[in-house]
Amino acid sequence: MRHFTRLADLGPAGMQQVFDKALASKKQAPGAGLSGKLLGMVFFNPSLRTRASFEAAMLRSGGHAIVLEVGGGVWKLEDRKGAVMNSDRPEHIREAIPVLGRYVDALAVRTFAALADDDADAADPVINAFRELAGVPVISMESAREHPCQGLADLLTIRENFGTTRALPVTLVWAPHIKPLPKAVPHSFLLTAAAAGCELRIAHPPGFDLHPEVLAEARQYAAQSGGSVSVTHDPKAALASSRVVYAKSWGPASNSAPAGEAATRITAHSDWLVNGKTLAAAAQNAIFLHCLPVRRNVEVADEVLDGPHSRVIDEAENRLHVQRVLLHDLLNQKKEIRRVHIA
Ligand code: CP
Repeated sequence: MRHFTRLADLGPAGMQQVFDKALASKKQAPGAGLSGKLLGMVFFNPSLRTRASFEAAMLRSGGHAIVLEVGGGVWKLEDRKGAVMNSDRPEHIREAIPVLGRYVDALAVRTFAALADDDADAADPVINAFRELAGVPVISMESAREHPCQGLADLLTIRENFGTTRALPVTLVWAPHIKPLPKAVPHSFLLTAAAAGCELRIAHPPGFDLHPEVLAEARQYAAQSGGSVSVTHDPKAALASSRVVYAKSWGPASNSAPAGEAATRITAHSDWLVNGKTLAAAAQNAIFLHCLPVRRNVEVADEVLDGPHSRVIDEAENRLHVQRVLLHDLLNQKKEIRRVHIA
C-alpha cells in the first residue's frame, strides 16, 4: 500500500488486517513507532475530528505533524489544469505538492467535493494529483469521492459491538440538512460495509442517489464478501430488523435537478429527521452511528444522540485507532524517495 486515499488501496483483506491491528493496539499503550516521522497535513476544508485524531496519532507514537490550512496562512492553491492564474490563487498544486513532499515523510489531505458535478467529484482530481506528484505516501482525510478512514472507523465500531460484520443487517439512512453535503462519507460507509460482508440497505429520498460507479464497486465487494447492497426510498422497510442505523445527510445527485434547486430540495424532506421513531423501526438492540459533526434536531434528534443506542463518541475515537495503524504501515514502508519532474 503506497497510498491510502480509497478503500481499493487496502482491499477487503487489507481492511480486515487494519481492524485486527486496531483492536489489538487499543489494548496497548502507544509505542514510539513513528519516532522521527513527519506528517504534512493539508486542509482545503475545516475539520475537528480528522485534524485532532491524525495529530494525536502522530504525537502519541513519537512522530510530529505540520498543519497547513490552504488560504489561512498558506497561499490559496489553484488546482485547475491549464488555468490562467489571474484569480486570488497565487500558487498551483503542481508546484505546491512536490515541494511539500520534499519536506515530510507523508502527506495527509482534506479536499471536499465541489458538488457541481458528481462525475467530476467521483474522478477525485485533487487527491489524485497528490498521489501523482507528492513523491511520498498520501493518505486521505476526506476527498471528493471517499472518506476512507471514516469508513474504517465506522466498521470497526460495528465489529466491536457485534463481534462480526458478516451478514449483519445495517441501514444507511439519509437525513435532512440545511444545505447539500458531499457524498464522501456515505460512499465510504457503503464501500466498507459491503467489503465487510454486511447486508446493507440504503434509504434516501428520490433524486438523492449515490454515485453509480461507487454503488457498482460496493456490489463487487459484496459479491466477494457474501454481503449485499439494496437501495430504497422507504426508510421503514430499510430499517426493519436492522442492527445498525447509520444516519448521514448528502446532497441531491447533480444530474437529478438544476443546481439552484438543490438547497430547496434538501429542506423539503424534514420528515426524514432521525428520531426515536426511526430507531424503533430497527432491531431492539440496534446501535446508532453518525460520522459527526451532526446538526441536532435538523438531522438527528437529541433523544437519539443522547440515548442508549448511540455509539457516536466510540465511533469518533476509532478514527484515532485505525489511523494509527495506517500511519504505521505507510510511514514504515521501505523508504523510496521518488523525485517528481514537472512537465
Ligand atoms: N467525521 C469527520 O471527518 O469529522 P471532521 O469533519 O470534524 O474531521
